[in-house]
Amino acid sequence: MIAYLRSLPPIRNPLPDRRLSPGAEERRAAGARPIDGPVDAPSFQEAWERGRHLIGLGECMGCHTSWYSDPIPGLGGGGNRILEEDEDGLPVFSRNITPDPTGIGGWSRDDFRWVMRTGKGGDLHPAAMRWTAYARLTDA
Ligand code: HEC
Repeated sequence: MIAYLRSLPPIRNPLPDRRLSPGAEERRAAGARPIDGPVDAPSFQEAWERGRHLIGLGECMGCHTSWYSDPIPGLGGGGNRILEEDEDGLPVFSRNITPDPTGIGGWSRDDFRWVMRTGKGGDLHPAAMRWTAYARLTDA
């Protein structure tokens, strides 16, 4: 990465310092740190706990929750504008992935695996929903 970045032409563009709200500064200070020792593998008692872990790693809810709506419809309820415009100039919104019938409530496990592996048979916009990054997850 650094080799590539150094190959770019220099651009003079002084920017102001980062400004976060006090709350965001606090969360940042308490947040991620470089790893400085061994990390225990997570242990899961129930299948859904493993799912929660993977959903966290995949950042699914970051896109599939409409964080800027007022009120927020709920975790995983969809409706977040992920792409300003697709190739035809239309916006792409995340979908409801909760068990409600307006979400994926009617889907079997096989339906879900097929969608995640094939991008719904190529129907999902690959830049808005990067299913290719998830396509090689095992069944488990
Ligand atoms: C970068 C944002 C983003 C992330 C991260 C993301 N998704 Fe999506 N997802 C979308 C968008 C946008 C769509 C709708 C795409 C379209 O309509 O072409 C979508 C569609 C889907 C669909 C199809 C739903 C339907 O009704 O057709 C499922 C299922 C899904 N995502 C599950 C997941 C899961 C599980 C994860 C995490 C492993 C995840 N997504 C991560 C943005 C995202």
